[in-house]
Amino acid sequence: MKQIKIVGGNTLRGQIHIGGAKNSAVAIIPAAILATGESKLYNVPNISDRDALFDIIKDLNVDVKMEGSVVTIDSSNIQNKTISEILSKRLRASYYFMGILLGKYKHVEMYFPGGCNIGSRPIDIHLKGFEALGATVTHEEESHKYILDAEKLTGARIKLDFASVGATINIMFAASLAEGTTIIENAAKETEIINIADFLNKMGAKIKGAGTSKITIEGVKELHPAEISVIPDRIEAGTYLIMGALLGDNLEVCGINPNHITALLNKLSDMGVTFEVKENSIIISKSPNLKAINITTLVYPGFPTDLGQPMSVLLTQANGVSLFEETIWENRMQHVEYLNKMGANIELKDNAHAVITGPTKLKGAAINATDLRGGAALVTAGLIAEGCTVISNIEYILRGYENIINKLKSVGADIEIIETEE
Ligand code: EPU
Repeated sequence: MKQIKIVGGNTLRGQIHIGGAKNSAVAIIPAAILATGESKLYNVPNISDRDALFDIIKDLNVDVKMEGSVVTIDSSNIQNKTISEILSKRLRASYYFMGILLGKYKHVEMYFPGGCNIGSRPIDIHLKGFEALGATVTHEEESHKYILDAEKLTGARIKLDFASVGATINIMFAASLAEGTTIIENAAKETEIINIADFLNKMGAKIKGAGTSKITIEGVKELHPAEISVIPDRIEAGTYLIMGALLGDNLEVCGINPNHITALLNKLSDMGVTFEVKENSIIISKSPNLKAINITTLVYPGFPTDLGQPMSVLLTQANGVSLFEETIWENRMQHVEYLNKMGANIELKDNAHAVITGPTKLKGAAINATDLRGGAALVTAGLIAEGCTVISNIEYILRGYENIINKLKSVGADIEIIETEE
């Protein structure tokens, strides 16, 4: 079993370089197969979700080559076939094959996607979108197999019940190859959606309005190979900035777009954290007398749910009572048990509301990552705790943070992966 061992208390100084955005890459990698031929993707993060997607597209007879963060995907010999249950369940983003294969072949067979256990994670909004375009969805209750079929796809006006990131992207995929115009209303506005629409437009799609709540897609007959660079990961950047606010001595988080993390920067300012914003980086240091604040997670451009858990660790070090509310996922407080075990004072009102009283000294402990961002929160806690912290279930963390051990080591953290008997 692999675990992360951290001896807390070290100051973080130097530069941390941010990789490509996980939630953009996990849509852009499969999107490359919408075209037939060779597409090139730059700044692809080295995370296990990437490898899971490679395994799926290789299974569809697509060729994948990798040189550092540059990925070449050649779909010249692609075959549309069932994506097995094991492959479908490897990650949440396998759901993108629904929109992609439906657009390209008008037929998809796959299983319910996997991913972190942060709530029930239904895909009804995706499926309603496909049905509005003319697809028939068959769901085999027992096996959780989904079969999507369409004689043809026809553009439609689709109002999403919730501004779902995945459903917005999935409908863009299918609608790009539909006949006629699709309008997505109440579309998600996350920055990743703009990156994906840019890629599709480079492939010949006609998408307007990505990044706003109304996206218009004029369907085209086919898409051609293209090149795209994945935008910087705003959540990875935010996680290291939170660590810098706790332990930094001019820690520079580099290769980012500061405009994508305005909500976080506003909250850090409210707490009294000092930082300097440059064009593509932010320099941050530990600040004394952090103020307690209230945080509610929201869709973009609100405070991102994916930074809620790391942020809860910073709130344990603020003076006074902070109220924290999670509004996107039903089950994103599982890390709290472990923070309290380390000495935090967090009272869970229910699965969505936490009252965090600080400051509290944290002590190293043996703890378990329960999901990706909760795992990142535990790493953050381990870095500030007195003594040694050992984190299990680290595969959750490696799913979305590239090279986290070496990145933190290089700025002074005492952190390593250890192998122990099961
Ligand atoms: N929802 C439905 N039905 C649907 C789709 C979503 O009820 O058909 C609900 C969800 O259950 C949830 C809310 O709508 O309560 C938001 O879901 P959304 O579809 O926006 O999330 P997602 O696309 O599945 C992506 C990221 C998440 C991130 C959210 C919100 C990927 C692969 N995942 O998920 O990332 O939290 O958007 O920004 O892009 C993470 O990186 O740790 C992570 C969980």
